[in-house]
Amino acid sequence: MSTITFRTAQPTDWPAIASLLSAAKLPLDGVQDHLSEFVLAIRADELIGTAALEKYGDYGLLRSVAVIASEHGRGLGAALTQQLIDQARRDQLSGIVLLTTTAYDYFPRFGFARIDRADVPTTVQASIEFQSACPQSAVAMLLDLSTQKQPHASSIA
Ligand SMILES: CC(C)(COP(=O)(O)OP(=O)(O)OC[C@H]1O[C@@H](n2cnc3c(N)ncnc32)[C@H](O)[C@@H]1OP(=O)(O)O)[C@@H](O)C(=O)NCCC(=O)NCCS
Repeated sequence: MSTITFRTAQPTDWPAIASLLSAAKLPLDGVQDHLSEFVLAIRADELIGTAALEKYGDYGLLRSVAVIASEHGRGLGAALTQQLIDQARRDQLSGIVLLTTTAYDYFPRFGFARIDRADVPTTVQASIEFQSACPQSAVAMLLDLSTQKQPHASSIA
C-alpha cells in the first residue's frame, strides 16, 4: 500500500474536498473561504482525509475532520487532528473549539471537553460554522491551550 502524504490545500483541491465532506455529511458553508487552513491526507493522488483549523483571534475552530470510509479506524483522523493541535500550540493559540453532532465521543481523547455554546469565545461564535453551518443541537467542545502556552523567547529575562 502506498504511503500517505500530508499537505496544505490549494484552490484546485476544492471539488475533491467538497466531495469528501459531502460523503461524510459535514457542512460546506464557508469552507471554500478557508482552504489555505486545510490539511489534506493524500494516498496515490486520492484525497482520503481532511481537517481544518480556522483562526478567530486567539482561538482556532477545528472543523471538517473527515476520513473516507475505507480508511476508517487506522489512525488517520487522529493524525490529522493532532497535526492541527500541534500547529495551534506553535501559533500560541489560547484554545481550539469545535462543534459536532456525531463525534463528541471521539474528541475527548485529544483533550477536548464539552462546553456550553454560550461559553464559546465571541470571536469564534461569529464564524459561519457557528452562525449557519452547524445545527443549534451540535455539541461545543474546547481544548484549552492557555495553561500550556510557552513564553516567547524574547519575553524571557
Ligand atoms: C471521526 C472520523 C474523522 C474518525 O476518523 P478515523 O480515521 O476513523 O479515526 P481514528 O482511526 O483516528 O480513530 C478510531 C477510533 O475512533 C473511534 N471513532 C471513530 N469515529 C467516532 C465517532 N464519531 N464517535 C466516537 N468514536 C469514534 C473508533 O471507534 C476508534 O476507536 P478505538 O480507537 O477505541 O478503536 C471519521 O469517523 C469520520 O470521517 N467521520 C465522519 C465525519 C465526522 O463526523 N467528523 C467529525 C466532526 S468534524
